[in-house]
Amino acid sequence: MLKLLITGGCGFIGSHVVRLFVEKYPDYHIYNLDALTYAGNLENLVDVESNSNYTFIKGDIIDEAFVNKLFEDYKFDNVIHLAAESHVDRSIEDPLAFVKTNVIGTMVLLNAFKNLWKNNFNNKRFYHISTDEVYGTLGETGLFTESTSYDPNSPYSASKASSDHFVRAYGETYGLPYIITNCSNNYGPNQFPEKLIPLFINNIINNKPLPVYGDGNYTRDWLYVVDHARAIDVAFHDGVNGETYNIGGFNEWKNIDLVKLLCAQMDIELGRPEGTSENLITFVKDRPGHDLRYAIDASKIKNELGWEPSLIFEEGLKKTIHWYLNNEEWLNNVTSGEYQNYYQKQYN
Ligand code: NAD
Ligand code: DAU
Repeated sequence: MLKLLITGGCGFIGSHVVRLFVEKYPDYHIYNLDALTYAGNLENLVDVESNSNYTFIKGDIIDEAFVNKLFEDYKFDNVIHLAAESHVDRSIEDPLAFVKTNVIGTMVLLNAFKNLWKNNFNNKRFYHISTDEVYGTLGETGLFTESTSYDPNSPYSASKASSDHFVRAYGETYGLPYIITNCSNNYGPNQFPEKLIPLFINNIINNKPLPVYGDGNYTRDWLYVVDHARAIDVAFHDGVNGETYNIGGFNEWKNIDLVKLLCAQMDIELGRPEGTSENLITFVKDRPGHDLRYAIDASKIKNELGWEPSLIFEEGLKKTIHWYLNNEEWLNNVTSGEYQNYYQKQYN
């Protein structure tokens, strides 16, 4: 039985990846290592937690002794590494936390994997999940390709870029078999409501202001999270060692246009008069170092591995809204306590 370690499996994207692999590959054993930070939530995986091919392990990837022992005990054949501090605004407040988890945590995992298999890497793979933010920002035109130079602008993207470089360096120096994928903005069920779409859904439900940074003319390329999980499945199985693949939605939106679409859909779902939610839009102080535009050229993964997004944005957004409206308890649980302190600090 193939032993697959997935890190960060209780987070937003990780929980969709864990579910897909647990259900689709009964002959794999999936070990989910997660520290359960504010962003990690066991509730995200209640539907698969009692499957016989699934084991949850609570632990911190920074803890070298613990991680080394884990690798010795379980002898993981493969790793899909998602655990990270993932929110740009938090990285501006506390950059060091991002270096610890994203850089040192990745190093700890790389070392544990390398030391376990020494030079005998046959049928082994370390799959590092990264972001398009490592490429920095685009102007009004152009797309990020796999050969775009790294040019990160936030502490978050600098820490992700650094971890990508270490993964590559381990490939070059020690022959460690790796792949890296760099994905654009994800949205969908289970996303913590500090990121744009779930934050605004939650605020609309509660009739709170929608804090659009700057003039709202920033562009992101949005991908439904289940489509990202499908891409990870394809890249994990069919990707070529030492390669990088960009993953994106072919779906660029200016923030302000996206927010207006979201407002219109929310009014319909909540049975409120047209324009009610749009009235909540409030332009606030911009994010420092705010990247103007991200857009991915995902033709390599499409042409070489046959992956492409399955949902159009309007459909994905509707599914996302339905999920949040039908999972009020999940939303209430994650927005109580510490979330309120974060919110006050960030937006007041
Ligand atoms: P998330 O913040 O929702 O989840 C991160 C998970 O990692 C949580 O479960 C958390 O408990 C866990 N974690 C954090 N620090 C840990 C530590 N020290 N030890 C063990 N576990 C720890 O993040 P996400 O949005 O699901 O992103 C997952 C990965 O995908 C990240 O590597 C991120 O950089 C990358 N990514 C995210 C997006 C996006 O739009 N969200 C896009 C591209 C790439
Ligand atoms: O591009 C991939 C990245 O996408 C991932 O690597 C990150 O983990 C993920 O968080 C996301 O980063 P962004 O910074 O693009 O996502 P966020 O949802 O924080 O912001 C999206 C856009 O919306 C961005 O231009 C900032 C803006 N924004 C965000 C928030 C939270 C606002 O205008 N107001 C807000 O309150």
